[in-house]
Formats: sequence, C-alpha cells, structure tokens
Amino acid sequence: MLVLGVSGSPRRGGNTEILLDEALAAAREAGAETKKVVLSELKYSSCISCGACEKTGVCSLKDDMQDLYELIGAADAMIFSSPIYFYAVSGWSKCAIDRAQALWARKYILKDPRYTADKKGYFICIGATRGARLFDGAKLTMKYFFDVAGYTPAGELLVNGVDEKGNIRQYPEHMAAARGLGAAAAGAGEIEKA
Ligand SMILES: Cc1cc2nc3c(=O)[nH]c(=O)nc-3n(C[C@H](O)[C@H](O)[C@H](O)COP(=O)(O)O)c2cc1C
Repeated sequence: MLVLGVSGSPRRGGNTEILLDEALAAAREAGAETKKVVLSELKYSSCISCGACEKTGVCSLKDDMQDLYELIGAADAMIFSSPIYFYAVSGWSKCAIDRAQALWARKYILKDPRYTADKKGYFICIGATRGARLFDGAKLTMKYFFDVAGYTPAGELLVNGVDEKGNIRQYPEHMAAARGLGAAAAGAGEIEKA
C-alpha cells in the first residue's frame, strides 16, 4: 500500500506541508508506505498544448513530471496539499495539474489501467481569509485532476483563517483531522466524503 503525498506549497515547513506530514505519518503508522513529493523542489514547466500526449500518452516535455506520472500511476492513494493562492490552488499545483493532460490521454484514449483505477484521493487546503467561496475553485480543479489521474475524491481537509507560517500547529483539531485523513488514505478508517 503506497500513499503518495504531494505538496503544492513553495513555503517549506508551511501550513499545508505540516498537515500533509501529519497525514503521511498517520498513514505510515497504519502500515502504509509513503512517498512525499514537494512540487517546488522539482523542475518542470507548464503544459505547452502540443498535443503529443493525445496520440501516445507520453508528454513531450522531458522534465521531473515524468517521474511524477509514474508515481501517480503506482500509488494506491494520494494526498494532495495546496495553499489557496488567489482563490485557486497554488501555481506550483496548477502547473503540475495542467501537465496531467498526459494522464487524461492515458486514461481516456489509451485506457491505461494505472489511470482508470478507482483509487482514493484526498485534498488538504488552507487559506488565510474566510470567504464563503474560498475553496470553490480549488475543489473543482482537484475533482477533475483526481479523475484523470485515476483517483476518486474520498475526503478533504479545508482550513480557513490560517496565514502565518506554522500557525496551523495552534489548531489541534486540524492536526487531528489530518491524522484521520492519513489513516483513511492507508485504508484504516473512513472520513467524511468530499
Ligand atoms: C501568492 C499568494 C496568494 C494568496 N492568495 C490567497 C487568497 O486568495 N485567499 C486566501 O484566503 N489566502 C491567500 N493566501 C494566503 C495563503 O493561502 C495562506 O498564507 C496559507 O496559510 C499558506 O499555506 P502554506 O503555509 O502551506 O504555504 C495567499 C498567499 C500567497 C503567498
């Protein structure tokens, strides 16, 4: 059982990465193997819409996304974390998600079983403000990303009103929720559906 954690924040040790680490620790305690990818440590560019992947499922851009495609296909569950930037996921997250057009091709054109599988995807997201629609854009983006990657949204942890680096640690209820999410990703228990 491999749980893949993807961190979409460039702020190392920031709020979303803290929750992701908590979730992955709980997944390991529940018996899963985990792998964490920090997108801002990778080298990749955004999709250039060349159309190559639609014929072969292979992205023409030979960068660090190639390894992430394989990891996404190999993992049994995924936890994706991102801060809210301008009412959306971060640019690091969105850039990687746009590159998942190659996974769309693998799933819907090539019927590659690694991406047609129905695996569980979990989303962790934090924003500083408290607007009623703060997570609307990010949730929609994640829903369609998970779909092309072969995952079904199985749970989410959305936290508003947290801004300063590391302040999430002052909220034991959110730290506990992250642990519950990680355990669920490892197959040990259920959490409220997204
Ligand atoms: C470029 C940028 C844009 C942001 N845009 C928003 C926003 O639209 N709404 C919001 O509530 N918070 C916004 N924030 C605040 C972050 O979501 C918040 O600080 C969050 O806790 C950061 O998580 P991190 O520590 O994991 O990076 C923004 C922060 C940055 C750096």
